[in-house]
Amino acid sequence: MAALQGILLIIQLSFVIIRVLIVSTTAAAPQALPNCPDKCGNLTVPYPFGMAEGCYQGNDFFVNCSQATDPPIAYLTKNGTVIITNISLAEGELQISDFIARYCYSTSALRTRRNSPVLRLPSPYIISDTKNKFIAVGCDTYAIFKGFQGTEQSITGCMSVCNSLKSVDQNSCSGVGCGQTNIPSGLHNRTMTLDSYSNHSGIWDFNPCSFAFIVEETQFKFSGNTSFQQLNSTTRLPMVLNWAIGDEPDPCDVAKKRQDFVCQNYSKCVNPTNRNGYICQCLDGYEGNPYHPNGCHGDLFKYTTNGK
Ligand SMILES: *[C@@H]1O[C@H](CO)[C@@H](O)[C@H](O)[C@H]1NC(C)=O
Ligand SMILES: *[C@@H]1O[C@H](CO)[C@@H](O)[C@H](O)[C@H]1NC(C)=O
Ligand SMILES: *[C@@H]1O[C@H](CO)[C@@H](O)[C@H](O)[C@H]1NC(C)=O
Ligand SMILES: *[C@@H]1O[C@H](CO)[C@@H](O)[C@H](O)[C@H]1NC(C)=O
Ligand SMILES: *[C@@H]1O[C@H](CO)[C@@H](O)[C@H](O)[C@H]1NC(C)=O
Ligand SMILES: *[C@@H]1O[C@H](CO)[C@@H](O)[C@H](O)[C@H]1NC(C)=O
Ligand SMILES: *[C@@H]1O[C@H](CO)[C@@H](O)[C@H](O)[C@H]1NC(C)=O
Ligand SMILES: *[C@@H]1O[C@H](CO)[C@@H](O)[C@H](O)[C@H]1NC(C)=O
Ligand SMILES: *[C@@H]1O[C@H](CO)[C@@H](O)[C@H](O)[C@H]1NC(C)=O
Repeated sequence: MAALQGILLIIQLSFVIIRVLIVSTTAAAPQALPNCPDKCGNLTVPYPFGMAEGCYQGNDFFVNCSQATDPPIAYLTKNGTVIITNISLAEGELQISDFIARYCYSTSALRTRRNSPVLRLPSPYIISDTKNKFIAVGCDTYAIFKGFQGTEQSITGCMSVCNSLKSVDQNSCSGVGCGQTNIPSGLHNRTMTLDSYSNHSGIWDFNPCSFAFIVEETQFKFSGNTSFQQLNSTTRLPMVLNWAIGDEPDPCDVAKKRQDFVCQNYSKCVNPTNRNGYICQCLDGYEGNPYHPNGCHGDLFKYTTNGK
């Protein structure tokens, strides 16, 4: 009985040791190609993305790490103005920081600041329809959102009207002071326009501005007057894009036969449901970067090659 317990204890202990080894080795998994930088400030830039010649998979995956500021800023593509804030290989996602639309009245009926930002994405990128919402904030506000999927246009919008701060939603975006709607899938560009019904007259003292934006759903929580104040000093908010390799409706069995197929050892090809192209994922039981040569590692493989 004691011997059995002893064996069990040893098994448990070795399990703990193996887990420790696994954790310490995954942290060191290569992200960029050999001799390529893999950080822009605190942003990790994994292959197929890259910041130097020979370090990225085609021009659409070039990240321009501009050192003009401290910390540096990562722009998407060569002539891009889109700022990258996080790159995720698992589902082919990219978090960016995008402009919000606003207009303000300096006194009732005197309109001052106004902008209608445009977002244009190069071909392998679309606005994620699952992670983002389109949101309009204000008490005399209607916001129109136009986007294109290929050559097909989608138009949607939100409105919000309220005549006192008391009536404004405090804990959720549910129609009074804040309205939200889903985003159509597959959009590669978008414009937003804002307008009012009556120049914010009668509400100007507590709500001189209207705002509209696409935002990562988990990154914005509406809370009445606090949101009115915070948005007044916000120029950009996080949004999630999706990307894929190639922009053809490329089932994996076709892609696999091509010379330029990019999924590496111990990875599989996956066709995302909401866009063209394909993404790579490490096989079950493996982890790492499936785009990197020998990037996917199995736990046991690492354990034994560690020489322990
Ligand atoms: C990365 O840097 C940005 C800008 O300096 C900062 O806002 C952000 O919190 C940092 N993220 C992490 C995970 O440190
Ligand atoms: C990177 O972005 C900066 C600032 O927008 C620009 O001046 C520079 O030309 C870009 N560099 C490359 C290689 O695209
Ligand atoms: C960026 O440059 C590429 C060629 O390098 C060009 O095809 C594209 O239209 C440019 N995009 C913008 C937004 O200027
Ligand atoms: C970047 O994305 C990963 C995975 O989606 C997430 O775990 C991580 O917290 C994100 N980092 C930042 C700084 O947002
Ligand atoms: C969005 O894309 C469509 C179709 O490609 C194009 O006709 C339209 O001009 C684009 N809009 C903007 C603002 O770039
Ligand atoms: C809003 O202001 C504009 C001038 O800025 C004026 O032409 C218009 O009549 C006003 N509309 C209302 C409903 O007050
Ligand atoms: C709204 O917020 C601002 C700034 O926090 C504060 O000065 C103002 O009193 C608030 N208004 C109300 C009605 O709570
Ligand atoms: C919003 O910000 C501007 C400066 O950008 C400031 O003049 C104005 O008082 C602010 N309004 C509110 C309601 O906080
Ligand atoms: C991994 O892939 C490389 C080419 O990318 C190939 O040379 C190598 O033999 C592969 N290794 C295994 C274990 O399949």
